[in-house]
Amino acid sequence: MKIAVLPGDGIGKEIIAETLKVLGRLGLKFEFEEAPVGGAGYAASGHPLPQETLALAKQADAILFGAVGDPKYDNLESAKRPEQAILGLRKALELFANLRPAQVYEELADASSLRAEVVAGLDILIVRELTGDIYFGEPKGIRAHASGGREGFDTMRYSEAEIRRIARVAFEAARKRSRKVCSVDKANVLETSRLWREVVTQEAKQFGDIALSHMYVDNCAMQLVRNPKQFDVIVTGNLFGDILSDEASMLTGSIGMLPSASLDANNKGLYEPIHGSAPDIAGKGIANPLATILSAALMLRHSLNQGAAAQRLEGAVKKTLRDGFRTADIYTAGKRKVSTAEMASAVAERL
Ligand code: IPM
Ligand code: MG
Repeated sequence: MKIAVLPGDGIGKEIIAETLKVLGRLGLKFEFEEAPVGGAGYAASGHPLPQETLALAKQADAILFGAVGDPKYDNLESAKRPEQAILGLRKALELFANLRPAQVYEELADASSLRAEVVAGLDILIVRELTGDIYFGEPKGIRAHASGGREGFDTMRYSEAEIRRIARVAFEAARKRSRKVCSVDKANVLETSRLWREVVTQEAKQFGDIALSHMYVDNCAMQLVRNPKQFDVIVTGNLFGDILSDEASMLTGSIGMLPSASLDANNKGLYEPIHGSAPDIAGKGIANPLATILSAALMLRHSLNQGAAAQRLEGAVKKTLRDGFRTADIYTAGKRKVSTAEMASAVAERL
C-alpha cells in the first residue's frame, strides 16, 4: 500500500507526522513517500503543486493530505496561491466525490456551541461535488468594466453528467445508512440549481428505496443549527458544500474533529481533515490531530480495503475521548488537556 504523504503548511506538518505515528502501530505494511505541497511546494520549486508531487499522487494507492495555506503567500497571483495545490489535485485526479461525515461523539456533545440535546447522537454525511461549480467554471477573472473601474467574475456551471454521478454517490452512500437524501440547491434563483434539482430527481428513480427531499441552501444553513438531526445524507454542489460542511463541523464541537475523503470513480482517494492550516496555532503543538487520524481511517476503508483496521482506529479514537483526553479546541472543564503528540500517542496506545 503506497501512500503519498503531503503535509503542506502550518499545522498540516504536525498533524500528519502524528497520524503517521498512529498508522505505524496498526501492524500493516505501508510505504510512505512524502512531498511538498501548498506554500511548502511554492517554497521548494516555485509552484504550489510541483510536478513531482503531482506525479507521486498519481501513482500512489492513496493520498494523505494535511492542509495548505500560508499568510506569507496571500498576495501571490491566484495561480500560485497555496490553495491551488488542493484544487489542482482534485481536478487532475478527478476526485469529484467529497465525503464529509459529521458525527457527534457522545463524549463531546458538551463541547458543541449548541445545546447538547440538539446535537447528541448526530450523524450526518455531506456529499459535496468537488470538481465543478463556480470553483472551476470558466470564464473567470478580473477585467476592466465599462463603467470605469474593474469587475470580478466567476461562472457557476454544472453539466448533467456531473450532477448525475454525484447524485449516485449520495444515493449509494444512503443505502448503507438510513436511506434518506436531502439535495441542497438554490433553485429559486439559479439556473444551475434548476438543472441540478431536475437531474437529481430523475436519477432518484433508479433508487426506489431512497427517500429524496430538496432544500434551498439558505434554509439548510438555518436547519443545520435549528434541528440538525433531521438530516442523514446531504448532497450538494462544490460551493454550498464548502460552506455547509464548515457549519456542520461546529455541531460536532470542533472543526478539528472532521475528516474527509475525496474519491474518483474507482475509489482512489485523497484524505484530509476539513480544517485548514491554522497559521495562528502552527508550530505550537496544540492542534487537534483527530480529524487527520479519522481521515486515515477513511483511507483504510475506502481506498485500501482495510475495513477492519479502519474500525480499530475509529474505536481507539472513541476510547481516547471516553478516557478524557482533549486538545484545546475540544477542552471542557474536568477533562485532561493534551498536546497534539499526546493525543496521537493516546490513540496509538488504545489500538
Ligand atoms: C475545503 C477548503 C478548500 C475549499 C480551500 C482550501 C481551497 O476550504 O477543503 O473545504 O474551498 O474547497
Ligand atoms: Mg472549506
